[in-house]
Amino acid sequence: MDYAPPGRFKTAADFRDRWRELDALGGLDCDLEVGGPDDPLSRPFDFATPTGPRRVGNRFVVHPMEGWDANGDGTPSDDTIRRWRRFGESGAKLVWGGEAYAVQPDGRANPNQLHLNPDPGVDDARSLRTLLEALKQGHAESHGSTEDLLVGLQLTHSGRFSRPTGSTMSPRIAELNPVLSAKYGLDAGVHVLTDAELREISDNMVRAACLAADVGFDFVDVKCCHGYLLHELLGAHTRRGDYGGSFENRTRLFRDTVKAIQGERPRLAIGCRVSITDTYPLFRREGDAIGVPRGVEDHLPWRHGFGVNAMDPTTSDFTEPAAFLEMCRDLGLLAANLTVGSPYYCPHLQRPAAYPPSDGYLPPRDPLCEVQRHLHTVRTIRAMVPDLPLVGSGWSYLQQFLPNVARVEVRLGMVDFVGLGRSMLSYPTLPADVVAGRPLDRKQLCRTFSDCTTAPRNGMISGCYPLDRHYRAMPQAVDLKVLRKEASKA
Ligand SMILES: Cc1cc2nc3c(=O)[nH]c(=O)nc-3n(C[C@H](O)[C@H](O)[C@H](O)COP(=O)(O)O)c2cc1C
Repeated sequence: MDYAPPGRFKTAADFRDRWRELDALGGLDCDLEVGGPDDPLSRPFDFATPTGPRRVGNRFVVHPMEGWDANGDGTPSDDTIRRWRRFGESGAKLVWGGEAYAVQPDGRANPNQLHLNPDPGVDDARSLRTLLEALKQGHAESHGSTEDLLVGLQLTHSGRFSRPTGSTMSPRIAELNPVLSAKYGLDAGVHVLTDAELREISDNMVRAACLAADVGFDFVDVKCCHGYLLHELLGAHTRRGDYGGSFENRTRLFRDTVKAIQGERPRLAIGCRVSITDTYPLFRREGDAIGVPRGVEDHLPWRHGFGVNAMDPTTSDFTEPAAFLEMCRDLGLLAANLTVGSPYYCPHLQRPAAYPPSDGYLPPRDPLCEVQRHLHTVRTIRAMVPDLPLVGSGWSYLQQFLPNVARVEVRLGMVDFVGLGRSMLSYPTLPADVVAGRPLDRKQLCRTFSDCTTAPRNGMISGCYPLDRHYRAMPQAVDLKVLRKEASKA
Protein backbone atom coordinates (compact mmCIF):
# COMPACT_ATOMS: atom_id res chain seq x y z
CA MET A 1 0.00 0.00 0.00
CA ASP A 2 1.53 3.27 -1.12
CA TYR A 3 0.54 6.25 0.99
CA ALA A 4 2.25 8.94 3.04
CA PRO A 5 1.33 9.22 6.72
CA PRO A 6 0.75 12.80 7.91
CA GLY A 7 4.21 13.00 9.50
CA ARG A 8 5.74 13.04 6.00
CA PHE A 9 4.03 16.29 4.97
CA LYS A 10 6.25 19.30 5.55
CA THR A 11 3.60 22.02 5.68
CA ALA A 12 -0.11 22.32 6.41
CA ALA A 13 -0.61 23.51 2.83
CA ASP A 14 0.97 20.31 1.45
CA PHE A 15 -1.18 18.22 3.75
CA ARG A 16 -4.29 20.17 2.78
CA ASP A 17 -3.77 19.30 -0.89
CA ARG A 18 -3.70 15.58 -0.07
CA TRP A 19 -6.61 15.88 2.35
CA ARG A 20 -8.77 17.53 -0.32
CA GLU A 21 -7.62 15.13 -3.01
CA LEU A 22 -8.73 12.10 -0.97
CA ASP A 23 -12.10 13.58 -0.04
CA ALA A 24 -14.41 11.93 -2.56
CA LEU A 25 -17.57 13.25 -0.87
CA GLY A 26 -16.19 16.81 -0.67
CA GLY A 27 -16.43 19.58 1.91
CA LEU A 28 -13.62 18.60 4.27
CA ASP A 29 -10.79 21.04 4.74
CA CYS A 30 -7.69 21.92 6.72
CA ASP A 31 -6.98 25.37 8.21
CA LEU A 32 -3.43 26.60 7.86
CA GLU A 33 -3.19 28.46 11.20
CA VAL A 34 -4.36 27.14 14.55
CA GLY A 35 -4.36 27.73 18.27
CA GLY A 36 -4.75 30.36 20.92
CA PRO A 37 -7.64 31.69 22.96
CA ASP A 38 -9.71 32.78 19.93
CA ASP A 39 -9.47 29.40 18.24
CA PRO A 40 -12.81 27.59 17.80
CA LEU A 41 -11.23 24.69 19.72
CA SER A 42 -10.69 26.99 22.72
CA ARG A 43 -14.31 28.17 22.90
CA PRO A 44 -16.51 27.07 25.80
CA PHE A 45 -19.64 24.98 25.26
CA ASP A 46 -22.85 25.15 27.28
CA PHE A 47 -24.59 21.87 28.09
CA ALA A 48 -28.13 21.45 29.34
CA THR A 49 -27.90 19.03 32.30
CA PRO A 50 -30.52 17.79 34.76
CA THR A 51 -29.19 20.29 37.31
CA GLY A 52 -29.22 23.24 34.89
CA PRO A 53 -26.76 24.72 32.40
CA ARG A 54 -23.11 23.58 32.69
CA ARG A 55 -20.29 25.27 30.83
CA VAL A 56 -17.22 23.33 29.74
CA GLY A 57 -14.10 25.33 28.98
CA ASN A 58 -13.02 24.09 25.53
CA ARG A 59 -13.78 21.62 22.74
CA PHE A 60 -11.34 18.86 23.62
CA VAL A 61 -12.51 15.53 25.02
CA VAL A 62 -10.47 12.70 26.46
CA HIS A 63 -12.02 9.51 25.13
CA PRO A 64 -12.29 6.52 27.46
CA MET A 65 -9.31 4.15 27.25
CA GLU A 66 -8.85 0.98 29.24
CA GLY A 67 -5.38 0.20 30.48
CA TRP A 68 -5.76 -3.50 31.35
CA ASP A 69 -3.89 -2.58 34.51
CA ALA A 70 -6.34 -2.63 37.43
CA ASN A 71 -5.89 -5.16 40.23
CA GLY A 72 -7.76 -8.45 39.90
CA ASP A 73 -10.46 -7.27 42.33
CA GLY A 74 -11.23 -4.22 40.18
CA THR A 75 -9.39 -1.66 42.29
CA PRO A 76 -7.03 0.70 40.46
CA SER A 77 -3.26 0.14 40.36
CA ASP A 78 -0.67 2.92 40.39
CA ASP A 79 -0.59 2.76 36.57
CA THR A 80 -4.37 3.25 36.43
CA ILE A 81 -4.20 6.24 38.76
CA ARG A 82 -1.30 7.74 36.78
CA ARG A 83 -3.30 7.51 33.57
CA TRP A 84 -6.38 9.20 35.06
CA ARG A 85 -4.21 11.94 36.52
CA ARG A 86 -2.64 12.58 33.11
CA PHE A 87 -6.12 12.75 31.56
CA GLY A 88 -6.83 15.54 34.04
CA GLU A 89 -3.56 17.30 33.22
CA SER A 90 -4.42 17.25 29.49
CA GLY A 91 -6.37 20.50 29.61
CA ALA A 92 -9.36 18.86 27.87
CA LYS A 93 -12.49 20.09 29.61
CA LEU A 94 -14.66 17.05 28.95
CA VAL A 95 -13.43 13.65 30.11
CA TRP A 96 -15.70 11.04 28.61
CA GLY A 97 -15.48 8.14 30.97
CA GLY A 98 -11.81 7.67 31.80
CA GLU A 99 -12.15 4.06 30.72
CA ALA A 100 -14.74 1.34 30.34
CA TYR A 101 -15.94 0.26 33.78
CA ALA A 102 -17.41 -3.26 33.68
CA VAL A 103 -20.65 -3.47 35.63
CA GLN A 104 -20.12 -7.12 36.56
CA PRO A 105 -17.07 -9.40 36.64
CA ASP A 106 -18.10 -11.64 33.72
CA GLY A 107 -18.41 -8.56 31.50
CA ARG A 108 -14.73 -7.64 31.73
CA ALA A 109 -12.75 -7.53 28.48
CA ASN A 110 -9.68 -8.63 30.44
CA PRO A 111 -8.90 -9.84 33.97
CA ASN A 112 -7.47 -6.43 34.87
CA GLN A 113 -10.38 -4.20 33.97
CA LEU A 114 -11.88 -1.84 36.51
CA HIS A 115 -15.22 -3.27 37.56
CA LEU A 116 -18.06 -3.25 40.01
CA ASN A 117 -17.18 -6.08 42.36
CA PRO A 118 -20.11 -7.79 44.09
CA ASP A 119 -17.76 -8.88 46.91
CA PRO A 120 -18.81 -6.67 49.87
CA GLY A 121 -15.18 -6.70 51.05
CA VAL A 122 -14.14 -4.58 48.05
CA ASP A 123 -14.78 -0.84 48.35
CA ASP A 124 -15.81 0.11 44.79
CA ALA A 125 -16.77 3.64 45.84
CA ARG A 126 -13.29 4.22 47.20
CA SER A 127 -11.73 3.03 43.91
CA LEU A 128 -13.84 5.39 41.82
CA ARG A 129 -13.27 8.27 44.24
CA THR A 130 -9.49 7.74 44.06
CA LEU A 131 -9.56 7.94 40.26
CA LEU A 132 -11.83 10.96 40.12
CA GLU A 133 -9.74 12.79 42.70
CA ALA A 134 -6.47 11.99 40.89
CA LEU A 135 -7.95 13.33 37.65
CA LYS A 136 -9.34 16.49 39.22
CA GLN A 137 -6.17 17.11 41.19
CA GLY A 138 -4.11 16.76 38.01
CA HIS A 139 -6.43 19.22 36.28
CA ALA A 140 -6.47 21.73 39.14
CA GLU A 141 -2.68 21.71 39.53
CA SER A 142 -2.07 22.22 35.81
CA HIS A 143 -5.01 24.43 34.84
CA GLY A 144 -6.36 26.08 37.98
CA SER A 145 -10.06 25.60 38.35
CA THR A 146 -12.11 22.45 37.77
CA GLU A 147 -15.28 24.59 37.52
CA ASP A 148 -15.52 24.18 33.75
CA LEU A 149 -14.50 20.51 33.71
CA LEU A 150 -17.05 17.72 33.19
CA VAL A 151 -16.14 14.13 34.02
CA GLY A 152 -18.05 10.95 33.24
CA LEU A 153 -17.72 7.23 33.81
CA GLN A 154 -18.24 4.77 30.95
CA LEU A 155 -20.37 1.75 31.89
CA THR A 156 -19.90 -1.45 29.95
CA HIS A 157 -20.49 -5.14 29.57
CA SER A 158 -18.04 -6.59 27.03
CA GLY A 159 -20.51 -9.17 25.69
CA ARG A 160 -18.97 -11.06 22.77
CA PHE A 161 -15.52 -9.76 23.68
CA SER A 162 -15.62 -10.72 27.37
CA ARG A 163 -12.36 -12.23 28.56
CA PRO A 164 -12.61 -12.00 32.35
CA THR A 165 -10.22 -14.72 33.41
CA GLY A 166 -7.24 -14.75 31.09
CA SER A 167 -6.25 -15.26 27.52
CA THR A 168 -9.31 -17.25 26.41
CA MET A 169 -12.51 -15.49 25.44
CA SER A 170 -15.69 -16.17 27.42
CA PRO A 171 -18.21 -14.62 25.06
CA ARG A 172 -21.66 -13.67 26.32
CA ILE A 173 -23.38 -12.74 23.11
CA ALA A 174 -26.61 -11.04 22.05
CA GLU A 175 -27.09 -13.19 18.96
CA LEU A 176 -25.21 -15.73 16.83
CA ASN A 177 -23.19 -14.14 14.05
CA PRO A 178 -21.80 -16.66 11.54
CA VAL A 179 -18.97 -14.44 10.31
CA LEU A 180 -17.72 -13.47 13.77
CA SER A 181 -18.09 -17.08 14.90
CA ALA A 182 -15.82 -18.14 12.03
CA LYS A 183 -13.35 -15.32 12.73
CA TYR A 184 -13.01 -16.22 16.40
CA GLY A 185 -13.54 -19.97 16.13
CA LEU A 186 -16.64 -19.92 18.32
CA ASP A 187 -18.67 -23.08 18.21
CA ALA A 188 -22.39 -23.62 18.64
CA GLY A 189 -22.01 -23.89 22.44
CA VAL A 190 -21.35 -20.17 22.84
CA HIS A 191 -23.52 -18.54 25.49
CA VAL A 192 -26.37 -16.41 24.14
CA LEU A 193 -27.55 -14.20 27.00
CA THR A 194 -31.17 -14.76 28.00
CA ASP A 195 -33.61 -11.86 28.37
CA ALA A 196 -33.43 -12.32 32.15
CA GLU A 197 -29.62 -12.11 32.07
CA LEU A 198 -29.85 -8.92 30.02
CA ARG A 199 -32.17 -7.41 32.62
CA GLU A 200 -29.65 -8.32 35.34
CA ILE A 201 -26.90 -6.56 33.41
CA SER A 202 -29.14 -3.51 33.12
CA ASP A 203 -29.70 -3.60 36.90
CA ASN A 204 -25.95 -3.65 37.42
CA MET A 205 -25.54 -0.70 35.07
CA VAL A 206 -27.98 1.21 37.25
CA ARG A 207 -26.04 0.16 40.40
CA ALA A 208 -22.77 1.36 38.86
CA ALA A 209 -24.40 4.62 37.75
CA CYS A 210 -25.68 5.28 41.29
CA LEU A 211 -22.19 4.68 42.66
CA ALA A 212 -20.68 7.05 40.08
CA ALA A 213 -23.23 9.73 40.98
CA ASP A 214 -22.62 9.33 44.72
CA VAL A 215 -18.86 9.55 44.26
CA GLY A 216 -19.19 12.81 42.28
CA PHE A 217 -19.02 11.96 38.58
CA ASP A 218 -20.98 14.46 36.49
CA PHE A 219 -22.33 11.87 34.09
CA VAL A 220 -22.29 8.24 33.04
CA ASP A 221 -21.99 6.86 29.54
CA VAL A 222 -24.25 3.92 28.76
CA LYS A 223 -21.78 2.43 26.29
CA CYS A 224 -23.15 1.15 22.97
CA CYS A 225 -20.02 0.80 20.87
CA HIS A 226 -17.15 -1.26 19.49
CA GLY A 227 -18.90 -4.64 19.32
CA TYR A 228 -19.52 -4.86 23.07
CA LEU A 229 -22.87 -6.00 24.42
CA LEU A 230 -25.17 -3.01 24.05
CA HIS A 231 -23.73 -2.28 20.62
CA GLU A 232 -24.25 -5.85 19.48
CA LEU A 233 -27.84 -5.67 20.74
CA LEU A 234 -28.52 -2.59 18.57
CA GLY A 235 -27.84 -4.76 15.52
CA ALA A 236 -29.36 -8.02 16.82
CA HIS A 237 -31.89 -8.44 14.01
CA THR A 238 -31.96 -12.24 14.34
CA ARG A 239 -32.42 -12.37 18.13
CA ARG A 240 -35.86 -13.42 19.32
CA GLY A 241 -37.72 -12.17 22.38
CA ASP A 242 -37.99 -8.73 23.97
CA TYR A 243 -34.55 -7.49 22.95
CA GLY A 244 -34.14 -8.56 19.33
CA GLY A 245 -35.70 -8.15 15.91
CA SER A 246 -37.49 -4.81 15.64
CA PHE A 247 -35.80 -1.46 16.26
CA GLU A 248 -38.07 -1.00 19.27
CA ASN A 249 -36.83 -4.29 20.75
CA ARG A 250 -33.14 -3.83 19.89
CA THR A 251 -33.05 -0.44 21.62
CA ARG A 252 -35.13 -1.58 24.62
CA LEU A 253 -32.30 -2.50 27.00
CA PHE A 254 -30.56 0.82 26.40
CA ARG A 255 -33.78 2.79 26.83
CA ASP A 256 -34.84 0.93 29.97
CA THR A 257 -31.37 1.33 31.48
CA VAL A 258 -31.34 5.09 30.85
CA LYS A 259 -34.83 5.50 32.32
CA ALA A 260 -33.94 3.40 35.37
CA ILE A 261 -30.80 5.49 36.03
CA GLN A 262 -32.86 8.67 35.65
CA GLY A 263 -35.36 7.26 38.15
CA GLU A 264 -32.67 6.43 40.71
CA ARG A 265 -30.41 9.47 40.27
CA PRO A 266 -32.39 12.24 38.55
CA ARG A 267 -29.56 14.76 38.98
CA LEU A 268 -27.00 12.62 37.12
CA ALA A 269 -26.43 13.44 33.44
CA ILE A 270 -26.23 10.58 30.94
CA GLY A 271 -24.37 10.27 27.65
CA CYS A 272 -24.00 7.55 25.06
CA ARG A 273 -20.89 6.49 23.17
CA VAL A 274 -22.21 4.67 20.17
CA SER A 275 -20.76 3.00 17.07
CA ILE A 276 -23.13 4.89 14.85
CA THR A 277 -22.17 2.94 11.76
CA ASP A 278 -20.27 -0.26 11.19
CA THR A 279 -18.83 -2.48 8.52
CA TYR A 280 -18.71 -6.16 7.65
CA PRO A 281 -15.79 -7.86 9.51
CA LEU A 282 -12.42 -7.82 7.79
CA PHE A 283 -9.92 -10.70 7.51
CA ARG A 284 -6.18 -10.72 6.84
CA ARG A 285 -5.71 -11.77 3.22
CA GLU A 286 -3.16 -14.52 2.51
CA GLY A 287 -0.24 -13.25 0.49
CA ASP A 288 -0.33 -9.51 1.15
CA ALA A 289 -1.89 -9.30 4.69
CA ILE A 290 -4.31 -6.57 3.59
CA GLY A 291 -7.69 -6.48 5.36
CA VAL A 292 -10.60 -7.66 3.21
CA PRO A 293 -14.26 -8.45 3.81
CA ARG A 294 -14.54 -12.15 2.95
CA GLY A 295 -17.63 -13.95 1.64
CA VAL A 296 -19.96 -10.95 1.85
CA GLU A 297 -22.17 -12.21 -0.95
CA ASP A 298 -22.87 -15.43 1.02
CA HIS A 299 -24.37 -13.44 3.88
CA LEU A 300 -26.75 -11.03 2.18
CA PRO A 301 -28.87 -9.46 3.39
CA TRP A 302 -26.52 -8.79 6.35
CA ARG A 303 -28.62 -9.05 9.49
CA HIS A 304 -26.06 -8.40 12.24
CA GLY A 305 -25.02 -4.79 12.07
CA PHE A 306 -26.24 -1.41 13.24
CA GLY A 307 -26.18 1.47 10.76
CA VAL A 308 -25.05 -0.67 7.84
CA ASN A 309 -26.61 -1.14 4.46
CA ALA A 310 -27.97 -4.72 4.58
CA MET A 311 -27.31 -5.31 0.87
CA ASP A 312 -23.79 -3.81 0.96
CA PRO A 313 -22.62 -4.03 4.59
CA THR A 314 -19.32 -2.31 3.84
CA THR A 315 -21.36 0.91 3.52
CA SER A 316 -23.59 2.87 5.91
CA ASP A 317 -27.33 3.29 6.28
CA PHE A 318 -28.08 6.10 8.72
CA THR A 319 -31.85 5.63 9.02
CA GLU A 320 -31.76 3.71 12.30
CA PRO A 321 -28.78 5.61 13.76
CA ALA A 322 -30.70 8.87 13.28
CA ALA A 323 -33.76 7.36 14.97
CA PHE A 324 -31.57 6.12 17.83
CA LEU A 325 -30.05 9.56 18.37
CA GLU A 326 -33.47 11.20 18.24
CA MET A 327 -34.41 8.79 21.00
CA CYS A 328 -31.30 9.83 22.95
CA ARG A 329 -32.28 13.46 22.55
CA ASP A 330 -35.86 12.79 23.63
CA LEU A 331 -34.59 10.89 26.68
CA GLY A 332 -32.72 14.07 27.65
CA LEU A 333 -29.20 12.78 27.10
CA LEU A 334 -26.33 15.19 27.52
CA ALA A 335 -24.56 14.30 24.27
CA ALA A 336 -23.61 11.44 21.97
CA ASN A 337 -20.01 10.44 21.46
CA LEU A 338 -19.88 9.03 17.93
CA THR A 339 -17.45 6.32 16.94
CA VAL A 340 -17.56 3.70 14.20
CA GLY A 341 -17.05 -0.05 14.01
CA SER A 342 -15.01 -2.16 16.41
CA PRO A 343 -11.32 -2.49 17.28
CA TYR A 344 -11.69 -6.28 16.92
CA TYR A 345 -13.23 -6.90 13.51
CA CYS A 346 -12.46 -3.59 11.73
CA PRO A 347 -9.58 -1.89 13.59
CA HIS A 348 -8.48 -0.02 10.45
CA LEU A 349 -11.75 1.91 10.66
CA GLN A 350 -12.27 2.25 14.41
CA ARG A 351 -8.72 3.51 15.06
CA PRO A 352 -7.01 4.40 11.76
CA ALA A 353 -3.33 3.49 12.01
CA ALA A 354 -0.12 3.30 10.04
CA TYR A 355 0.79 0.00 11.74
CA PRO A 356 -1.81 -2.70 12.46
CA PRO A 357 -2.29 -4.31 15.87
CA SER A 358 -0.97 -7.88 16.12
CA ASP A 359 -4.42 -9.39 15.48
CA GLY A 360 -5.13 -6.96 12.64
CA TYR A 361 -4.19 -6.57 8.97
CA LEU A 362 -2.62 -3.99 6.71
CA PRO A 363 -4.93 -1.07 5.88
CA PRO A 364 -7.00 -1.60 2.73
CA ARG A 365 -6.51 2.05 1.70
CA ASP A 366 -4.85 5.24 2.93
CA PRO A 367 -5.87 5.49 6.63
CA LEU A 368 -6.70 9.15 6.02
CA CYS A 369 -9.76 7.86 4.13
CA GLU A 370 -10.95 6.19 7.34
CA VAL A 371 -10.44 9.44 9.29
CA GLN A 372 -12.53 11.09 6.59
CA ARG A 373 -15.21 8.41 7.01
CA HIS A 374 -15.39 9.29 10.73
CA LEU A 375 -15.75 12.99 9.90
CA HIS A 376 -18.34 12.54 7.15
CA THR A 377 -20.32 10.21 9.41
CA VAL A 378 -20.55 12.93 12.06
CA ARG A 379 -21.46 15.53 9.43
CA THR A 380 -24.30 13.32 8.18
CA ILE A 381 -25.61 12.77 11.70
CA ARG A 382 -25.38 16.47 12.50
CA ALA A 383 -27.57 17.23 9.50
CA MET A 384 -30.09 14.52 10.46
CA VAL A 385 -30.24 15.23 14.23
CA PRO A 386 -29.08 18.84 14.59
CA ASP A 387 -30.09 19.38 18.21
CA LEU A 388 -27.95 16.82 20.06
CA PRO A 389 -24.40 17.77 21.15
CA LEU A 390 -21.85 15.55 19.37
CA VAL A 391 -18.31 14.37 20.10
CA GLY A 392 -16.28 13.00 17.17
CA SER A 393 -13.62 10.26 17.14
CA GLY A 394 -10.74 8.90 15.10
CA TRP A 395 -8.55 12.02 14.91
CA SER A 396 -5.21 10.80 16.27
CA TYR A 397 -3.91 9.51 12.92
CA LEU A 398 -3.80 13.16 11.75
CA GLN A 399 -0.76 13.81 13.98
CA GLN A 400 0.48 17.43 13.68
CA PHE A 401 -2.45 18.39 11.46
CA LEU A 402 -5.04 17.23 13.98
CA PRO A 403 -5.83 20.77 15.20
CA ASN A 404 -5.89 22.12 11.63
CA VAL A 405 -8.57 19.65 10.57
CA ALA A 406 -10.46 19.62 13.86
CA ARG A 407 -10.72 23.38 13.88
CA VAL A 408 -12.60 23.34 10.55
CA GLU A 409 -15.14 20.80 11.81
CA VAL A 410 -15.80 22.78 15.00
CA ARG A 411 -15.76 26.17 13.28
CA LEU A 412 -18.38 25.01 10.77
CA GLY A 413 -20.49 23.45 13.53
CA MET A 414 -20.13 19.95 12.06
CA VAL A 415 -19.16 18.60 15.48
CA ASP A 416 -19.09 20.16 18.94
CA PHE A 417 -16.14 18.29 20.46
CA VAL A 418 -12.92 16.69 19.32
CA GLY A 419 -12.47 13.42 21.20
CA LEU A 420 -8.92 12.13 21.53
CA GLY A 421 -7.87 8.56 22.22
CA ARG A 422 -4.34 7.37 21.47
CA SER A 423 -2.86 10.88 21.44
CA MET A 424 -3.86 11.20 25.08
CA LEU A 425 -1.53 8.30 25.90
CA SER A 426 1.49 9.65 24.03
CA TYR A 427 0.92 13.40 24.39
CA PRO A 428 -1.65 14.15 27.08
CA THR A 429 -1.04 17.90 27.09
CA LEU A 430 -1.84 18.33 23.40
CA PRO A 431 -5.16 20.11 24.18
CA ALA A 432 -3.44 22.49 26.62
CA ASP A 433 -0.80 23.33 24.01
CA VAL A 434 -3.40 24.08 21.33
CA VAL A 435 -5.51 26.22 23.64
CA ALA A 436 -2.43 28.16 24.78
CA GLY A 437 -1.37 28.70 21.16
CA ARG A 438 1.90 26.81 21.68
CA PRO A 439 3.35 24.85 18.75
CA LEU A 440 2.81 21.10 19.05
CA ASP A 441 5.71 19.02 20.33
CA ARG A 442 6.18 16.67 17.38
CA LYS A 443 8.21 14.19 19.41
CA GLN A 444 5.15 13.36 21.50
CA LEU A 445 2.66 12.95 18.65
CA CYS A 446 1.06 9.50 18.41
CA ARG A 447 2.49 7.75 15.37
CA THR A 448 -0.14 4.97 15.49
CA PHE A 449 2.29 2.09 16.03
CA SER A 450 -0.70 0.28 17.66
CA ASP A 451 1.44 -0.98 20.58
CA CYS A 452 -1.30 0.28 22.93
CA THR A 453 -3.68 -2.21 21.26
CA THR A 454 -1.20 -5.01 20.60
CA ALA A 455 -0.04 -5.09 24.24
CA PRO A 456 -3.38 -6.07 25.75
CA ARG A 457 -4.13 -8.44 22.88
CA ASN A 458 -1.04 -10.29 24.11
CA GLY A 459 -1.76 -10.15 27.82
CA MET A 460 0.30 -7.02 28.63
CA ILE A 461 -0.89 -3.76 30.13
CA SER A 462 -1.73 -0.99 27.69
CA GLY A 463 0.13 2.30 27.35
CA CYS A 464 2.27 4.21 24.88
CA TYR A 465 5.40 2.03 24.79
CA PRO A 466 7.15 3.95 21.98
CA LEU A 467 6.76 7.47 23.39
CA ASP A 468 5.88 7.44 27.10
CA ARG A 469 9.06 6.91 29.12
CA HIS A 470 7.11 5.09 31.83
CA TYR A 471 6.21 2.27 29.41
CA ARG A 472 9.35 2.51 27.25
CA ALA A 473 11.35 1.38 30.27
CA MET A 474 9.28 -1.79 30.66
CA PRO A 475 10.71 -5.10 29.36
CA GLN A 476 7.54 -5.63 27.30
CA ALA A 477 8.57 -2.70 25.06
CA VAL A 478 11.10 -4.99 23.35
CA ASP A 479 8.57 -7.78 22.72
CA LEU A 480 6.15 -5.26 21.30
CA LYS A 481 8.63 -4.04 18.71
CA VAL A 482 8.93 -7.63 17.44
CA LEU A 483 5.16 -8.08 17.41
CA ARG A 484 4.79 -4.81 15.49
CA LYS A 485 7.19 -5.99 12.77
CA GLU A 486 5.41 -9.33 12.49
CA ALA A 487 1.99 -7.70 12.22
CA SER A 488 3.14 -5.46 9.36
CA LYS A 489 4.64 -8.33 7.34
CA ALA A 490 2.89 -9.47 4.19
C1 LIG B 1 -5.63 1.19 24.39
C2 LIG B 1 -7.01 1.64 24.03
C3 LIG B 1 -8.07 1.42 24.90
C4 LIG B 1 -9.36 1.84 24.57
N1 LIG B 1 -10.38 1.66 25.45
C5 LIG B 1 -11.59 2.17 25.17
C6 LIG B 1 -12.64 2.14 26.14
O1 LIG B 1 -12.44 1.68 27.27
N2 LIG B 1 -13.84 2.65 25.78
C7 LIG B 1 -14.09 3.21 24.55
O2 LIG B 1 -15.19 3.65 24.28
N3 LIG B 1 -13.09 3.29 23.63
C8 LIG B 1 -11.87 2.80 23.92
N4 LIG B 1 -10.86 2.94 23.01
C9 LIG B 1 -11.11 3.65 21.72
C10 LIG B 1 -10.71 5.12 21.84
O3 LIG B 1 -11.53 5.76 22.79
C11 LIG B 1 -10.83 5.85 20.50
O4 LIG B 1 -12.13 5.74 20.00
C12 LIG B 1 -9.87 5.31 19.44
O5 LIG B 1 -8.58 5.16 19.95
C13 LIG B 1 -9.85 6.21 18.18
O6 LIG B 1 -9.49 7.52 18.54
P1 LIG B 1 -8.00 8.06 18.27
O7 LIG B 1 -7.81 8.09 16.79
O8 LIG B 1 -7.96 9.44 18.87
O9 LIG B 1 -7.07 7.13 18.94
C14 LIG B 1 -9.57 2.50 23.33
C15 LIG B 1 -8.50 2.72 22.46
C16 LIG B 1 -7.23 2.31 22.80
C17 LIG B 1 -6.10 2.59 21.85
